[in-house]
Amino acid sequence: MIGIFDSGVGGMTVARAIEKKLPSYNIIYFGDLARTPYGSKSAETIIRYSLQNTEFLISKGAKLIVIACNSAASVASNVLQNSFDIPVFEVITPAVSEAVVASQNGKVGVVGTRATISSNIYETEIKAIDSSFQVFSKDCPLFVPLVEEGWINKPETKMIIRRYLTPLKQKAVDTLVLGCTHYPLLLHLIKPRIGKRVKVIDSSEAMAENLKNFLENNPGIADTLSQNVESRYYVSDVTEAAMATAKKIFGRQVDLNRVAFGS
Ligand code: DGL
Repeated sequence: MIGIFDSGVGGMTVARAIEKKLPSYNIIYFGDLARTPYGSKSAETIIRYSLQNTEFLISKGAKLIVIACNSAASVASNVLQNSFDIPVFEVITPAVSEAVVASQNGKVGVVGTRATISSNIYETEIKAIDSSFQVFSKDCPLFVPLVEEGWINKPETKMIIRRYLTPLKQKAVDTLVLGCTHYPLLLHLIKPRIGKRVKVIDSSEAMAENLKNFLENNPGIADTLSQNVESRYYVSDVTEAAMATAKKIFGRQVDLNRVAFGS
């Protein structure tokens, strides 16, 4: 099974993208709703949670891990890759590759949580590919609560988006990376505000495409992933808001199975 974890249900944007690209594979998902949000926590805490989440998914049969949460990917990817002997994917590297190819003027904007932006991971990875690139990052701590409250079409949300994106617009970025699970749900508002000519990169789509290529090129690993059985969704807490967000992402009712673990 493909194991996916996130701090909550936002990572279902990644699960959904993988489901669309790899419909015959089944997914085992864990959303750490009891300890969400990760984006405002220290790297040390996020790493500890990420290790526990991965152990949980492996105990349920995951043979490959996808870190759907950008905040976790930005600080815990290396630790997880070194701690487990199964492939560990994350959402940042595929989005970085896509951004570098997409940008014509070498100016890339990145939006994410405080944890992701302060890790500087996007800038580090982009510059490792091409040091002439300029990366302009902006943390957008209000986006996640706005999505979770379902405020995805309110005038206040549009105003906040404009305010966060203005500094990136002023730098004339021609590519914008959505470095957070929740931001694809604001895409329809972000696009017109950053400018129609700016290419907006959704890291969930980039991740799913990357995983598809990997499985096609690694049939030995693809064979270890069970196919055509039912996907399962676990969470460490259940809330009405989470159920509504999950439904919005999948466009259907999703059964959230509650598990108690971690501290
Ligand atoms: N999943 C987180 C991310 O992609 C957003 C929510 C949180 O802060 O936990 O960064």
